[in-house]
Amino acid sequence: MKRIIIQFGGTGDLALKKLYPAYEHLMDHGFKFTVLALGRRFKDRDEFLEAMVSPTASKEFLSHLQYLYYDMGDPEAIVPLRKHIQSIIGDAEQAELIYYMALQPSLYEEAIHQIQEVDSLISCQCILAKKIVVEKPFGFDLESSELYNKILLQAFSDKEIYRIDHYLGKEFMQNLLILRFHNDIIRSIWDNRSIESIQIIFDETHGVDQRLGFYEKIGVVRDTIQNHIMQIITYLTMNEPATLAPEDIAIEKVKVLRSIAPVTDFHTGRYESLGANSGRIVHTPTYAALKLSVNTYYFADVPIYIRTGKMQEKAKSLIYVKFRNTTGKVMHDESIAENGVIITIHPELTIDISMNLKEPNTSWKSKPVRFRFNQAETFGVNTPEAYEQIVKKILQGDKSLFPSMREITESWRIVTPMLQPETPMEVYPVRTLPRFASDLAKDNGFTWFD
Ligand code: BG6
Repeated sequence: MKRIIIQFGGTGDLALKKLYPAYEHLMDHGFKFTVLALGRRFKDRDEFLEAMVSPTASKEFLSHLQYLYYDMGDPEAIVPLRKHIQSIIGDAEQAELIYYMALQPSLYEEAIHQIQEVDSLISCQCILAKKIVVEKPFGFDLESSELYNKILLQAFSDKEIYRIDHYLGKEFMQNLLILRFHNDIIRSIWDNRSIESIQIIFDETHGVDQRLGFYEKIGVVRDTIQNHIMQIITYLTMNEPATLAPEDIAIEKVKVLRSIAPVTDFHTGRYESLGANSGRIVHTPTYAALKLSVNTYYFADVPIYIRTGKMQEKAKSLIYVKFRNTTGKVMHDESIAENGVIITIHPELTIDISMNLKEPNTSWKSKPVRFRFNQAETFGVNTPEAYEQIVKKILQGDKSLFPSMREITESWRIVTPMLQPETPMEVYPVRTLPRFASDLAKDNGFTWFD
């Protein structure tokens, strides 16, 4: 079987930082496929290799990495593309074409049409299968995502469409399901009878940097909230699926998303300019703080506080599940701390359960202590990169790590109010938490788990 990944956006940031390293690693571990990178930035393969591929890249990877100058604005461009694909297929008896769109959503429509056209022109004396992979954000808003999906369905079946959210390839996400559904002690405390609130914090130190062109059209809501954050919420609050099969998980995730009202309690901001000459002035939201709730039987009334964005002092990704504190009242001791589960993704993958135990040399005084699981200490540091997991699943035709279209549609519905152009934006100095994020905590009487 000849597998070919046709990489639209083959000279972009995502390809450089995530996809090519994942392809190389998979090839070095026995996965057989060829990558055909498409882009406008370099005129030929030598230039492409020099700029995009490490000089120490493996032979296996280099010998299966091809490049074609491809200008999407040129209606003739599909002619050499078709030829090139055809030549890679050669006289294989079986071939699979994987069209991978790592592009601005504004280019989707055009790209899908070109892919359809190329695909219809490919012929071979072989069994030919196809898949299409679409990066997040899937669309630009609810309407465009539905439109793109409709166009995609003209040439691909839903089974052939892989909609990416690389967070589903992350170890901590998969661990959330195991934590929740393989532990009886967790099962009985994981609902609104025990949980008081949830915080999701995703602070990044980097700015928009060389992704300005992409990010400017996207902003934080489309970049991470509509996808990564919504997916995390589903994993945190969904009911147990009938099995861990993708379609069973999707059913439960959709139920969660459908129970979330469009977000109205939110604020967004952008970091201040880094100087007129820096070329890095961002006009789109780079930070957001919001509150929402999952109105299911088991999670109604548990506020979920979210803050996420760029140019922060410290990189920090964590989920804090705070439990109700009744012991303080019962024991007449307000100093007794709450219990919590803290899932830290960055800087290290750890899961802590915070409990109160006796402080030595005191009489009945308790102190919060943590029971910690550290992924690297327990299992070693070789947790596969999310993109490697994702690409592996695409090659294997396993859709368990991909959001369904219904999930995507519901997620767009939830964030729609946040996408309104007239939404006021606070300008925050770099390396500081925007004021609205602190205000969200103050107004709701909680403290960010910093
Ligand atoms: C990407 C966003 O999807 O996720 C980036 O486009 C963000 O802006 C990134 O920085 C975070 O992902 P990770 O894997 O670095 O946590």
